[in-house]
Amino acid sequence: MMSRRFSCSYCFVLLFVCSISATCNEDPTIKTMEDFSGYPFQEPSSSFSSSSPFSSLSVDTQNLRKQIDELSTFSDAPAPSVTRILYTDKDVLARRYIKNLMGLAGLSVREDAVGNIFGRWDGNEPELSAVATGSHIDAIPYSGKYDGVVGVLGAIEAINVLKRSGFKPKRSLEIILFTSEEPTRFGISCLGSRLLAGSEALAEALKTTVDAQNISFFEAAKSAGYAKDHDDLSIVFLKEGSYSAFVELHIEQGPILEEEGISIGIVTAIAAPASIKVDFEGDGGHAGAVLMPSRNDAGLAAAELALAVEKHVLDSGSIDTVGTVGILELHPGAINSIPSKSHLEIDTRDIDQERRNDVIEKIFQSAEMIASKRGVRLSEFRIINQDPPALSHKLVIDAMQSAAKELNLTHKSMISRAYHDSLFMARVSPMGMLFIPCYKGYSHKPEEYASIKDIANGVKVLALTLAKLSSF
Ligand SMILES: *[C@@H]1O[C@H](CO)[C@@H](O)[C@H](O)[C@H]1NC(C)=O
Ligand SMILES: *[C@@H]1O[C@H](CO)[C@@H](O)[C@H](O)[C@H]1NC(C)=O
Ligand SMILES: [Zn+2]
Repeated sequence: MMSRRFSCSYCFVLLFVCSISATCNEDPTIKTMEDFSGYPFQEPSSSFSSSSPFSSLSVDTQNLRKQIDELSTFSDAPAPSVTRILYTDKDVLARRYIKNLMGLAGLSVREDAVGNIFGRWDGNEPELSAVATGSHIDAIPYSGKYDGVVGVLGAIEAINVLKRSGFKPKRSLEIILFTSEEPTRFGISCLGSRLLAGSEALAEALKTTVDAQNISFFEAAKSAGYAKDHDDLSIVFLKEGSYSAFVELHIEQGPILEEEGISIGIVTAIAAPASIKVDFEGDGGHAGAVLMPSRNDAGLAAAELALAVEKHVLDSGSIDTVGTVGILELHPGAINSIPSKSHLEIDTRDIDQERRNDVIEKIFQSAEMIASKRGVRLSEFRIINQDPPALSHKLVIDAMQSAAKELNLTHKSMISRAYHDSLFMARVSPMGMLFIPCYKGYSHKPEEYASIKDIANGVKVLALTLAKLSSF
């Protein structure tokens, strides 16, 4: 079944490549949309029931599937892999493709200085703060075609669904395509949403940020048509109260929904990681000659700290607290040499910031205690990042829940263990997220897959959620 799907997408890409190479001086995004159309999108269906306008929410699954496939061809890796890195030619083409679709959906489109893209459907009361939805379309090297994409193309389809149903929003509805959710190029994840949420530190840091080729952030942004007249990125910050609610549709990237046969995950909290780098230093020495009482083994200090991480995490008493020592290096790394240096990298996550920071504090105390007991130096204890976790807002949770209920879709509350642009939008707006099942929970690899039926369910719940939130 999987292989059949992949061979189909290969055919598709071949067709696509032929069609653009034949007409290379035309806008390739427009050309593909004509070639694979289904466009212009269908006129509002005349058959909507007057009793409940939402009983007829119908997703154009064929079109949506086609769009997901088309978008995946803007890639620097061969199908079924997708590689789409910030501000590359493929990223620029993919952005143009999305802007075209937003235009076809009747949205007014604007972009900010880093390329966050906004598509707005004015409500009956456009002076009220808007309801927003959206996600990202950048893709790490050799990943799949659903991560992020479902929340962008799905959002555009959700707007089309509402328009076809005859719905008119009170608050304006806005779709946001966030710039660079993935950290691939500049090492900064959720770059666009962090800036929208008003990160002064990031606006400052980007002035001197370069990629692995020593291309500056501004140079790269300018090559993609952004950041033209500005070196001060604080102009990207959202004005206070821009949005009354934000909701993001995303594949789960975990196995729970698929395993339990549930259609919709209602995300109640997003865990956020903190990462810590630790170095111990001792005197080392010959593994035979130095007797045990006179050693200060930096490797054993690291081992003891790794166990302390586990202990402190378990002591938190919550299943949502996790901690991992994913890197543990010993120097010089020879069987007959007592480690003179050790290096650990610790990742700890929680949905409760205080509890997570408490764990970090305890890890620090343990590191100092172990160093003193073993006579080694704690030469570094550095917290690399410490983003606060976020809770979904009751307003948005309620809207998502009743939408799923009214659509007769099975749903459950869950926690997002990965983080998303929503984590940062939560700083400036009431936030919620919708998850849909994905094959075996695979993500960030070519095998990533979500069925069009599950995607359509997600789009329906998103549409109805937006409709509800727009009328508050
Ligand atoms: C990176 O570019 C800057 C400015 O062009 C230059 O001064 C610097 O030497 C370069 N660094 C490397 C490692 O090439
Ligand atoms: C949900 O189920 C109820 C009861 O079976 C039914 O009346 C309603 O029309 C269904 N709604 C949708 C959107 O399918
Ligand atoms: Zn994502």
